[in-house]
Amino acid sequence: MKSLKFRKATVADVFPLSGLIQRTIRVSNARDYDRKSIDMLCAIFAPEPLTERIENENILLCFEGANLVGTVGLKGVYLRSLFVDPAFQGQGLGKVLTARIEEEARQRAIPEMMLHSSLTAREFYAALGYEFVELQSYPEGPFVLMRKPLNVHR
Ligand SMILES: CC(C)(COP(=O)(O)OP(=O)(O)OC[C@H]1O[C@@H](n2cnc3c(N)ncnc32)[C@H](O)[C@@H]1OP(=O)(O)O)[C@@H](O)C(=O)NCCC(=O)NCCS
Repeated sequence: MKSLKFRKATVADVFPLSGLIQRTIRVSNARDYDRKSIDMLCAIFAPEPLTERIENENILLCFEGANLVGTVGLKGVYLRSLFVDPAFQGQGLGKVLTARIEEEARQRAIPEMMLHSSLTAREFYAALGYEFVELQSYPEGPFVLMRKPLNVHR
């Protein structure tokens, strides 16, 4: 990978961000969820609801040159909406984005990171030290609640 740049999302990023997330859901999550679930998940990340998320969450973007290639968010104690462009997966970017948001959580003195993993990402999070809590059922399909204690800075 060429050099990566990271910055916070603003509402001006909503269209490329929605495009990245919806593309990733259709390519990567379609392995584990049926068509109805995929359409519901994509609707959550349509530009209008995503604008509200950008305003209310801490969303980090990763660019390679001018291209948006990854994103992750932090809301309260929850790591949310981690997506890596399918063409850039398997090169360590998901791990880097997770580490950055965990560091941000530590600086906010959050003792434990929580997340709802897709079935697709479960093994990825397990490799990063997240423990299974429980399987949860949502209208969009099943998700896995996972947790990881953080060593909080004093
Ligand atoms: C999950 C996702 C973010 C991972 O990003 P990525 O950039 O491909 O992951 P990385 O290359 O950083 O992988 C980090 C480690 O996890 C492992 N890993 C990644 N995906 C894995 C999988 N599906 N199963 C097992 N291990 C996996 C890698 O082998 C790597 O291990 P290593 O450090 O020992 O080499 C990405 O695949 C994605 O966007 N998936 C679709 C969207 C999604 O489901 N997001 C989660 C929403 S909750």
